[in-house]
Amino acid sequence: MADEAIVDFQNITTRFGQQIVHQHLNLTVKPREILAIVGGSGTGKTTLLRELLFLNRPAEGNIIAFGESIYQATSQQVMKLRRRMGMMFQSGALFSSLTVLENICFPLRELTSLDEKLIVEIAMLKAGMASFPADAVHKYPAELSGGMIKRAALARAIALDPELLLLDEPTAGLDPEAANSIDELVLALQQALDLTIIMVTHDVDTLWQATDRVAFLGDKKVLACEPMTALVRHSHPLIEAYFGNPRARAAEHSHEETKA
Ligand SMILES: Nc1ncnc2c1ncn2[C@@H]1O[C@H](COP(=O)(O)OP(=O)(O)O)[C@@H](O)[C@H]1O
Ligand SMILES: [Mg+2]
Repeated sequence: MADEAIVDFQNITTRFGQQIVHQHLNLTVKPREILAIVGGSGTGKTTLLRELLFLNRPAEGNIIAFGESIYQATSQQVMKLRRRMGMMFQSGALFSSLTVLENICFPLRELTSLDEKLIVEIAMLKAGMASFPADAVHKYPAELSGGMIKRAALARAIALDPELLLLDEPTAGLDPEAANSIDELVLALQQALDLTIIMVTHDVDTLWQATDRVAFLGDKKVLACEPMTALVRHSHPLIEAYFGNPRARAAEHSHEETKA
């Protein structure tokens, strides 16, 4: 049973009007792995995460999450399934009118009946786990650096102790040093909390440092889903083109050097 899928996208077809984004797409996510989703802009990476979160419904196909077929679930079951997932949206998506602490408290207030004191305690704990400094929790998002916003968003995403964490471009827009520390944080959280993580990213350093497998989206489906070492040797022209550019090569070399 250990290898049973935690999430299974089955034969997904997604359309927006005339545009077909996914066609007969399949992807399986294993428990406790860090799976990255890569692919060109507009290939439907974010949309896949949104489908898993019930924010978007594919035209065809099914998604199994935690052994349940999500589109056959009752609204009460959907609520339960959603509580088992934490999401960090692209660019953080914190509420700008709320402080960081209020942002982290938000899902706890909405979805639990814990008392206020406990909610704040849990929120502070999660801030700490995301390496967000305690003395900055009363700041507003506009007062924070890009790296701090990602940490705050991560803290909010783990507020409800999810089993599955969804991250949309967690290092986008960060300088290499800040990006690196987010990668380390993601790895540490995965281990500390025994999480399964699905992460959309463009960051080739992240792919090398922080993933078990990488699903490559192209031609409206998952062209390959393999560890980075295998994926970069893949002969599909879209995959070759993606990893063949100088920046991707540099990331591969620096990864080889760190290992040596
Ligand atoms: N709600 C929507 N309505 C219409 N088109 C959408 C919607 N969401 C996404 N799309 C389109 O679907 C495609 C995939 O979007 P997205 O999943 O955001 O791509 P990615 O995250 O891979 O860059 C894009 O062409 C986008 O314009
Ligand atoms: Mg996206």
